[in-house]
Amino acid sequence: MLYGSAPVMRTLEQLDVENRRVLVRVDFNVPLQDGKVADDARITAALPTINHLRARGARVILASHLGRPNGAVVPELSLEPVGDYLAGLLGCEVLLPDEVTGDGMAQVIRQCPPHAIVLLENLRFHPGETGNDVALALELAEHCDAYVNDAFGVSHRAHASVDALPRAKGERAGGLLLQREIEALERVLHPTRPFAAVVGGAKVSDKLGALVALVNRLQAGDRLLVGGAMANTFLLARGHQLGASLVEPSRVDECRRLQAAARARDVQFLLPSDLRIGAGLDAGDATVWSHEHGEFPSDAMALDIGPESERAFAAALSGARTIFWNGPMGVVENPTFAGGTVAVAEAVAESEGYTVVGGGDSVAAIRATGLDGRIDHISTGGGASLEYVEGKILPGIEVLTSVTPPLPREEPEPTEGTPP
Ligand code: 3PG
Repeated sequence: MLYGSAPVMRTLEQLDVENRRVLVRVDFNVPLQDGKVADDARITAALPTINHLRARGARVILASHLGRPNGAVVPELSLEPVGDYLAGLLGCEVLLPDEVTGDGMAQVIRQCPPHAIVLLENLRFHPGETGNDVALALELAEHCDAYVNDAFGVSHRAHASVDALPRAKGERAGGLLLQREIEALERVLHPTRPFAAVVGGAKVSDKLGALVALVNRLQAGDRLLVGGAMANTFLLARGHQLGASLVEPSRVDECRRLQAAARARDVQFLLPSDLRIGAGLDAGDATVWSHEHGEFPSDAMALDIGPESERAFAAALSGARTIFWNGPMGVVENPTFAGGTVAVAEAVAESEGYTVVGGGDSVAAIRATGLDGRIDHISTGGGASLEYVEGKILPGIEVLTSVTPPLPREEPEPTEGTPP
């Protein structure tokens, strides 16, 4: 059941699954290190749906992407380590066909014993996945009786396993993780106010559209906090020169317009008032700069928000009754420049409001500081959660509602001599 005016999505409970093959699109796009799963959050998040289906006697087939192999087979991006890890978690055999499609895959599915599950090989080894290819969708559809999307993290992509496949499969539903994500993000979309959004990350061009959409949803008294290298272009728009920092001068006008829009709506728009700067991404030392310190050193880079900004951001978050955070405040891979992100993590965790965090680096910061138990919802989707909060309809969710038209079957090629 969705909140507000969102369309009604079919749920897992509505599917007839006993003794039927159910293909579950999961998001097992997890970090690997030395060929092993380095963070299992996305795998454990899919377990409730997998266990639910198995308990009801379904034959489960899992399908996921891993990384961006661009339609080619990249052995380092095989889902084999994920399959091994999952087998350990579930205590059952997980069979991984060598290829995404074809006879080998079909045979593994056919011969899979009832207690085991199949995990298809990385869908993005097939060029049709990101191309939303109908032929790929129809081939996958042939091997299952019902389809479940539990891959919230990729539901903003109109890819074959997210969009064309459920169109081809009349029996489709959202999984338990997808439902949980939607419920949490609906509370952000229709927030108890004041609402605060904290957005960070490297490139402003990647998130300008999201910021514009967010500003248009904000009301007087709400707050929009921008940190990370993407704040640099806003600072440039205010006339600050930032030495060797990452800036996108072609976006200055849009940044100005966005700030004006926030002002017009009486939204508090907060940029860092000071910055931790250093010689480069790997620098071992940081100094703090603010415009009171004079000119920004020409060879230095802004790599994190400064201590005064941390306090200002924490103060803006403290009174908010709903908080959404997406993206780091600095170069979190380098501990010298991770402090701003940790400070925001602490401020979000201390909030008494409803809190949602999405995006790999922000979630990692929450986990590294042991604060995950104090966040109301940690999203498994970075880009997907941001698009949802912008108010966009995600294709992978839209297709699960009853109003989506089914995919038309492709007409067979006319044979020679057949009139057109
Ligand atoms: C993610 O990691 O955000 C999702 O798995 C989507 O991956 P993508 O950005 O490569 O489509």
